[in-house]
Amino acid sequence: MVTIKSKREIELMKEACKVVALTYQELEKRLKPGMTTWELDQIAEKTMRSLGAIPAEKGYNIGIKGVPPYPATLCVSINDEVIHGIPSKNKVIREGDIVSIDTVALKNGFNGDAARTFIVGKASKEAERLVQVTKQAFFEGIKFAKPGYRIGDVSHRIGEYVHSQGYSVVREFQGHGIGREMHEDPGIPNYGKAGRGIRLEPGMTLAIEPMVIQGKPNILQLDDGWTIITEDGSLAAHYENTILITEKEPEILTIL
Ligand code: MF3
Ligand code: CO
Repeated sequence: MVTIKSKREIELMKEACKVVALTYQELEKRLKPGMTTWELDQIAEKTMRSLGAIPAEKGYNIGIKGVPPYPATLCVSINDEVIHGIPSKNKVIREGDIVSIDTVALKNGFNGDAARTFIVGKASKEAERLVQVTKQAFFEGIKFAKPGYRIGDVSHRIGEYVHSQGYSVVREFQGHGIGREMHEDPGIPNYGKAGRGIRLEPGMTLAIEPMVIQGKPNILQLDDGWTIITEDGSLAAHYENTILITEKEPEILTIL
């Protein structure tokens, strides 16, 4: 069921989303080569809690049998890791890495969800282009995130744009509605047919999240039950914001 948020609920959504934006501001400032992904996780958890929010990914159950609850505040996925990398004291971030971070804050009963891919120091031109295209894929998609269009129009544009740049989209994971639950209807694939799916209406809050691979689209899951990597070892990037559908242009809630 797709939920339409009331004015009051939208205010609360904005608060949760602002926490996420502030958390990224802090992470971007503090991210340095030599740090572990666990240290980043600590920074994020402290920031969120200091802003009156709870890290919603911590303890989150994805609902697949045999997969343990997610153990951290952040997903930190480096280079060929696509999503859901688990922070660890043994994982050191190096100059030239591309680091995809995904996190969700829960505040006053509502969730805000966003992902960013950061370039650490100086990376290759190709890595920079991948990160740029992934971000732009989000902005291409949301050109259709308004009344008069359907979910399929957003999905189609994301996939079409990414493919036009010579990259692949991940097919097994997708964007989603968001609100009281982290994952609500509708699912929002990063590819698809224009003109399909539900109509977009004011009051819908959606997490749009292109996951882009430099090489082939195929992915693998590591034995930890979470980490997703590219099968061909090529780089991957992720960019996500929670948006609000309005009468006109969408509002991006997870950017300050
Ligand atoms: N934040 C992710 C998303 O964009 C969900 C990660 S799964 C979790 O939908 F277990 F880490 F929360
Ligand atoms: Co999401």
